[in-house]
Amino acid sequence: MTDFPFSFVLPQPNVIPSRVDNHIVRNLSSLKGQFLDQDTYNEMLSKDDSLIYEVYEVKRPEIEGEFLMGISIVHPGKVGKEFYMTKGHYHTVIDTAEIYYCMRGEGFMVMETPEGETCVEPLSPGSVLYVPPRWAHRSICTSRQEDLVTFFAYPGNAGHDYGTIEKLGFRKLVLDGEKGIEIVDNPRFG
Ligand SMILES: [Fe+2]
Repeated sequence: MTDFPFSFVLPQPNVIPSRVDNHIVRNLSSLKGQFLDQDTYNEMLSKDDSLIYEVYEVKRPEIEGEFLMGISIVHPGKVGKEFYMTKGHYHTVIDTAEIYYCMRGEGFMVMETPEGETCVEPLSPGSVLYVPPRWAHRSICTSRQEDLVTFFAYPGNAGHDYGTIEKLGFRKLVLDGEKGIEIVDNPRFG
């Protein structure tokens, strides 16, 4: 059967795609072990399993040659000094890239390779970020009140490896410091 082209819109201001095949919701409990301030994390979790981020996916076959697309929405908030963030992942097929387009909010993409190279790129409305093959990636919302909203597209066969980051964390953290936003080494890495 012929696979016909299609289009969809990301309407302003809510940006939720007009076509959605899957809606993923991640709460505080799904980021167990990731935040620097574990005491505050446990205290917050004992009161409420807060919504941290959501993903609206436009599904395509998960095979080479296709693209998977969607919208990621990271809500504003902090655990201690650390801003809300996504779980972060490598692609299972590590030699696959990803493109992000920031539509709303302010934040950063924290990235690293298995060899230990690191990169932290700012995200603001209009910015396009190219994540090359081999770079794990995590988005972080640094807005006080606004969601960080990004459109993403990546190869259909990429897959997600969350386990490596769940075990090791990222080498760099983004914190709300005394003098503003600080990018620091993660003392709990490894
Ligand atoms: Fe990805």
